[in-house]
Amino acid sequence: MATSSTSRILTIRPPDPRSRDRLGRPMHDLRISVMDRCNFRCPYCMPKETFHDRYRFLRTSERLGFNEIVRIARAAVTLGARKLRLTGGEPLLRPRLPDLVGELSMIDGVEDIALTTNGVLLSQHASELKANGLNRVTVSLDSLDPEVFARMSGGFGGLDDVLDGIEVALAAGLGPVKLNTVVRRGINDHTVLPLLERFRGSTVIPRLIEYMDVGNRNAWRPEQVVPSAELLQRVAARWPLTPLPGNYHGEVADRYRYDDGAGEIGFISSVSAPFCGDCTRARLSSEGMFYTCLFATEGTDLRVALRSGATDAELVELLGGTWSRREDRYSERREALRRREQPLHKIEMHYIGG
Ligand SMILES: C[S@@+](CC[C@H](N)C(=O)[O-])C[C@H]1O[C@@H](n2cnc3c(N)ncnc32)[C@H](O)[C@@H]1O
Ligand code: SF4
Repeated sequence: MATSSTSRILTIRPPDPRSRDRLGRPMHDLRISVMDRCNFRCPYCMPKETFHDRYRFLRTSERLGFNEIVRIARAAVTLGARKLRLTGGEPLLRPRLPDLVGELSMIDGVEDIALTTNGVLLSQHASELKANGLNRVTVSLDSLDPEVFARMSGGFGGLDDVLDGIEVALAAGLGPVKLNTVVRRGINDHTVLPLLERFRGSTVIPRLIEYMDVGNRNAWRPEQVVPSAELLQRVAARWPLTPLPGNYHGEVADRYRYDDGAGEIGFISSVSAPFCGDCTRARLSSEGMFYTCLFATEGTDLRVALRSGATDAELVELLGGTWSRREDRYSERREALRRREQPLHKIEMHYIGG
């Protein structure tokens, strides 16, 4: 335990200059993609025309091992990260994921460990994840209409498993469960109100996400985005809403509560109202590339450093150097960047993690 004089030294130590990027944004979150594979083929993320049976995913030896992920997480925490989120691809396809959660939860300074999942395998793992230190879970669910659900997930069923996963996660103490609902015009936007209705009066918090131009494979078109302002109007016309203050600086969702007390919903508007200025998220791919933006075109190879014997101090140096040079603000510059003659080769979402 720290003596009082040590804690005084720690509290007056000036912040590590490497923990702020060029726009003054601290590193607060690390999103860790533990698996590039997925058991869905959502067309907006992993269209099956590209991610077919012969697509070459990473080999096991190419993915970071748990000890390597833990070392990187520890370096990020040294630089100020406090929240870890496990994602993918589908993170629950990673064998023994609860063991990783257990190891991450032992890192001094980690305040929150969360998981984003499509929920199909959640009921099998929720209790063990909770017991090993997972705090929260976000489940992606785009529609309750089985046909629309299958269309959004690339022809896969599993809606009942997802709903079951949400119930089991709540019972295991992983609530409040948040939902991620990507909204695409003409595909699932007509099913948004029934989805919200189902979770009104529960502790589940649906968040409606604007469809984004992540990666290069989803053939994104701006007309498929339903701006949050339009969705807000549609929802509020049915159930009046009042805005809520953010829970913390840099929160991505704009929060609202139903005036009749039936709970909370959120809107994530990275296309119509970019929030780059507050972005404190770093990302680690399953093969060990470190990225400073969801729309990044290049990253820093940490696996090579790890596997050639980098010390913990060298890892901190590498991460800190990369973060301190960060000046990404893709969403704020989207229109200009999309007009470029040479399109950007953005990293795909399943690889970088959502
Ligand atoms: C890439 S997934 C990885 C975790 C897990 N497979 C899942 O679906 O929750 C993380 C989140 O990114 C969201 N996502 C993927 N592609 C997107 C896009 N083009 N626009 C907006 N959100 C997207 C998904 O809906 C999901 O909530
Ligand atoms: S959004 Fe999640 S579930 Fe859908 S294809 Fe991407 S990684 Fe898989």
